Amino acid sequence: MDPSPRVHIPVLAEELVDLISPAPGDTVIDCTFGGGGHARLVAERIGPQGTLIAIDRDPVARERFEQFRQETHCRTRFMATEFSEALKSLQSEGMRADALYMDLGMSSLQVDAPERGFSYSHEAPLDMRMDPRQELTAGEILNTWPESRLVQILRSLGEERYAGGVAREIIRRRPLETTSDLVDAIKSGMPTAARFGSGHPARRTFQALRIAVNGELEAIDAALPIAWDTLRVGGRLAAISFHSLEDRRVKRFFAGLAVGCTCPPDLPVCVCGHDPEAELLTRRSITADEQEIEANPRSRSARLRGALKLAERPAD
Ligand SMILES: C[S@@+](CC[C@H](N)C(=O)[O-])C[C@H]1O[C@@H](n2cnc3c(N)ncnc32)[C@H](O)[C@@H]1O
Repeated sequence: MDPSPRVHIPVLAEELVDLISPAPGDTVIDCTFGGGGHARLVAERIGPQGTLIAIDRDPVARERFEQFRQETHCRTRFMATEFSEALKSLQSEGMRADALYMDLGMSSLQVDAPERGFSYSHEAPLDMRMDPRQELTAGEILNTWPESRLVQILRSLGEERYAGGVAREIIRRRPLETTSDLVDAIKSGMPTAARFGSGHPARRTFQALRIAVNGELEAIDAALPIAWDTLRVGGRLAAISFHSLEDRRVKRFFAGLAVGCTCPPDLPVCVCGHDPEAELLTRRSITADEQEIEANPRSRSARLRGALKLAERPAD
């Protein structure tokens, strides 16, 4: 037996469940099953007549799902694929969900598995794939992409101030084999003082690479409209994001759905006939309180947003 089974503590768990308010018999889609922490709470609420569809592209999540299936009483199944693909196939089955949620980013099961290369604290191959069937790895990006493209991802996905220096050092040290090779390149690519600033100097570069390897932002953009279409009218969609690049997408998507009349303000009566498709359930995002942050520091950057579906989208 694994002497220290890895655990993922679900973030904003009660808040998420309250926001989507699952009722007995409901159909709920968990787009990011991970260790199943949120799913367990949802399963308790929907009971034996309810259905929980679990999606995750990581095979470790599937292992955790087998355990969940044995412990839970609701109807359930697992879809081992990218969430927008899974949602498309659920739609083609005619699935209509009462609630759907995404807990974005990576799980502790991934970060704490040293061999997967997500963590700058462990020596490991440069992998970072959530789905090991995928071809692109962090090593491939680091060892084959041109300098200008490396600079661009470090800047845009990691907000790395020293993107130019770090990318130059990566190119100079090619081929990089392990996470330690990368950490060394990052440190040499920044001024000495910056290596000792707040947080680990490799944090931003590792974030950028992980997002690029897994196409995380493209996945969110692709999934949100399909997720919305999969909800029944009266259903609720919620997302927990961990950095501003994710949160901005969720916020904009919900804001777009909540737009009502688009007539110029000086018109005495509405002529556009545009009704909002969504009611925002969170005007401002919900964040973790001090107690949760202390118990689970990963919750510090979490932001939860939700919307209630008021109407179907008008056909294009
Ligand atoms: C933060 S964890 C979810 C944790 C989970 N809510 C829990 O309570 O244990 C995010 C999970 O989403 C998965 N994931 C991220 N992006 C995905 C995508 N585009 N398609 C499918 N799964 C994805 C990751 O593999 C990871 O297991």
